[in-house]
Amino acid sequence: MREWKPHPRAADSLKGSLGQAVLGEQVWACCDPAPLSFAPLRDPAPSPTRQSSRAVQGRVRRRSPPARLSHRCRPGRACTTLREQHLVPKEHRHCPAGAGMLELPFLPFCALLGGLGAVCVAFVSAWCQRWRGGFAWDGSAQMFNWHPVLMVTGMVVLYGAAALVYRLPFSWSGPKFPWKVLHGALALVAFGLAVLGLVAVFSFHNAQGTPNMYSLHSWLGLATVLLFSCQWLAGFVSFLLPWAPAWLRALYKPVHVFFGSTILTLAMVSCVSGINEKLFFSLKNGTTAYSQLPSEAVFANTLGLLILLFGVLVLWALARPDWKRPEPDSVEAHQPLLSAER
Ligand code: HEM
Repeated sequence: MREWKPHPRAADSLKGSLGQAVLGEQVWACCDPAPLSFAPLRDPAPSPTRQSSRAVQGRVRRRSPPARLSHRCRPGRACTTLREQHLVPKEHRHCPAGAGMLELPFLPFCALLGGLGAVCVAFVSAWCQRWRGGFAWDGSAQMFNWHPVLMVTGMVVLYGAAALVYRLPFSWSGPKFPWKVLHGALALVAFGLAVLGLVAVFSFHNAQGTPNMYSLHSWLGLATVLLFSCQWLAGFVSFLLPWAPAWLRALYKPVHVFFGSTILTLAMVSCVSGINEKLFFSLKNGTTAYSQLPSEAVFANTLGLLILLFGVLVLWALARPDWKRPEPDSVEAHQPLLSAER
């Protein structure tokens, strides 16, 4: 890896454009005494010349230990000296840079999320078992019941687990490859369950002579699964195949991250719309109307809220900068694609 020396013009430029960018002691004081290196700034202020824009992007690598540790800045504590998140070196993003952000250890949060995911699966199974007649694989209404169970388990719970693999602190050290395999494998199992869930609902519709793909839920749901399949394939080709070039990975990674969260959001919306639709279909003739709020409606509405809570917590965990895997300071990973100068 290239050694980047402190660049006087980089520091000057940062001072000028960002005000707070005293990169020496304040940053050293932020975290543990490990050597620091600065990732390229994500959104440097516009510079008048190309020369100064290069300076803003200059990486600074310091090898000497910190001169002093601020009493406010300890590993794992919020750093109040850095107001700009993009000034935090990538290696130290686990030290919460957003001052005031809720400090929470990841593993207990993860256990809570696992429990919530299990409750979602238990709720959807109990709904289908207790009020919708149980399960079968024969084209009957019991076959339909596999649809919500498999969709919630695959597209929400397992997909959410796959998304959080790189947030596990023990995945941060050592080779990344086994974690990539785990991430891809969990996503593949989630995708397999989703396909089975779709087979269940299409077979049920075909056996009953019900038209396919007429509802907003079905359009949204199918679009979500198709997007998921593209995401998985593109991720496999870019990140797991050994001959994928580094520039392709760097180009595709932000796209993958964006669509990862988008697909989870779409899956949550699909589930909620599906639950709502099923309740409207079922709670009429011969049963208590939906508007009378029978116990089944209370139960299924609660399931919808639990699914939303689970999904929102996953999205929140994905967005927290201090839970992100510290990436090595690879210039190639960030620079060559969009920089005309290289
Ligand atoms: C990410 C999750 C989900 C996806 C991707 C999804 C996808 C789909 C698709 C593509 C169809 C159309 C099948 C056809 O036209 O033959 C469908 C139908 C249906 N789904 Fe879902 N679904 C999801 C979750 C759920 C959930 C949790 C429920 C709750 C009961 C549900 C209830 C229904 C119902 C009642 C139908 C039949 C009526 C219709 O076609 O809209 N879905 N779903």
